[in-house]
Amino acid sequence: MYRKSISAILALGLVLSSGSAYAQVKSAPNEHSAVAFDNKVIKKINADNMYNTIAYLSEQPRAAGTEGEYKAVKYIENQFKSFGLETTIQPFPIYDTQINHVIVKINGTDIKEKPNPFSGSISKQVTAPLVNIGKAFPEEIGDLTGKIALIERGNITFTEKVQNALDKGAVGVLMYNNSSSGNFSGQVQDGQNIPAVAITRATGLQLVEQLKTTEVVATLDVDIEKIEKTSYNVIASLKPNKNKDTGQIVMVGAHHDSVPVGPGANDDASGVSVVLELARILSKTPVDTEIRFVTFGAEERGLLGSYYYANSLSKDEVPRIQAHFQMDMVGSKDAGGDNPFGGFIMYTLDGKKNLVTDLGAAAAVRIRSENISYGQVGRSDHQPFHELGIPSAVFTHAPLEAAYHKPTDTLDKISKEKLQQVAEVIGASVYQIARPDTPALVNATVAQELVDYSFENRPID
Ligand code: BES
Ligand code: ZN
Repeated sequence: MYRKSISAILALGLVLSSGSAYAQVKSAPNEHSAVAFDNKVIKKINADNMYNTIAYLSEQPRAAGTEGEYKAVKYIENQFKSFGLETTIQPFPIYDTQINHVIVKINGTDIKEKPNPFSGSISKQVTAPLVNIGKAFPEEIGDLTGKIALIERGNITFTEKVQNALDKGAVGVLMYNNSSSGNFSGQVQDGQNIPAVAITRATGLQLVEQLKTTEVVATLDVDIEKIEKTSYNVIASLKPNKNKDTGQIVMVGAHHDSVPVGPGANDDASGVSVVLELARILSKTPVDTEIRFVTFGAEERGLLGSYYYANSLSKDEVPRIQAHFQMDMVGSKDAGGDNPFGGFIMYTLDGKKNLVTDLGAAAAVRIRSENISYGQVGRSDHQPFHELGIPSAVFTHAPLEAAYHKPTDTLDKISKEKLQQVAEVIGASVYQIARPDTPALVNATVAQELVDYSFENRPID
């Protein structure tokens, strides 16, 4: 209900606007103008604070479930607390697989290469006759009860191949590559509880030949352990003034985890640094809307933290959330190519505009006279919020830099100007919702102007 009212107000703004591409408020900025409200936030932004946060966070990788992540989590928690925000750490489980051993024997002798398991956690040893079932299309498979299936990779997924063999009674799968470039890793589904091992094409074809003339007995001995680890979300809440509480919530997020190999200065210590800087500033600014600042864990493992958080929201909280602003990789000198405004772009999951992109585009025009376009990308923590029906977008600079997911994603590639630019646009957009006189359009002292901004099919990498 709340959400509808804000969109309706924005739509009204469009109808009432002069029709020019960048309808700006024509009256000189006074203390009630949108620009004056922007200034309450953006004049306080300090790019050095953000740079220093990135310097600290990028001292070591912060892969989910590691010491590095936990250190970052405690740092972020302390920062939020130092701003006087109600802060909680939300733990959640993640699972690693540890390969203890994988042995493949043919007629009792170890094969002469290193096999690669692709089953999930399993500890099993099977010895059984090997049967060649080609690519494991169901119509081509006979009874496999008590047999190990020899399968060629390709055409259908690993999961489908293993399932087709399982359905016919197979006790193991030995899959050889469809190209000559080594073996491969992959994954099957939980519950497909037979050893499944990948070998090279050369060894596979040799077995195919052998099976034409003789019986072959294979042994698959696989021990893969599932190890539970803990990752965390950090959630800080800025409560509105009790006498002026709209009951609404606006969210600002980033992910604090990195990939294991890199210090993740830009991915995504940069996003965290903007979240913290806006939390610092807004925590001293009266608001009529709750602002929730969140840093997610295990984004790099498949958006695990944001999905966990989204699933933990109560039924009555979800409709109160007006918007989710996600920042992912917002400080690279080298990202953005030759695109205007340093390549700054907003991506939504469905490639459609929403309240978040409307506010972002309008803020960029007001503050910097720059146009931000929008495109369609998932791949970050705006996704679970979109799926809950919450207007959301991820802000970044595209195309991404060459250091993306590499050990070279380091502090020296960070641009204070890019951090400043993103903090201004997001800070002004969030404040547009949360400032105490909103919905500003209703009061109409100065309307939130909608601007024209367009879809751009710009890939991120
Ligand atoms: N920061 C990256 C890529 C990115 C940048 C996504 C800007 C969206 C906007 C992100 O952390 C990432 O690497 N995501 C993964 C997907 C995820 C589901 C594991 C990817 O893109 O491979
Ligand atoms: Zn990222």
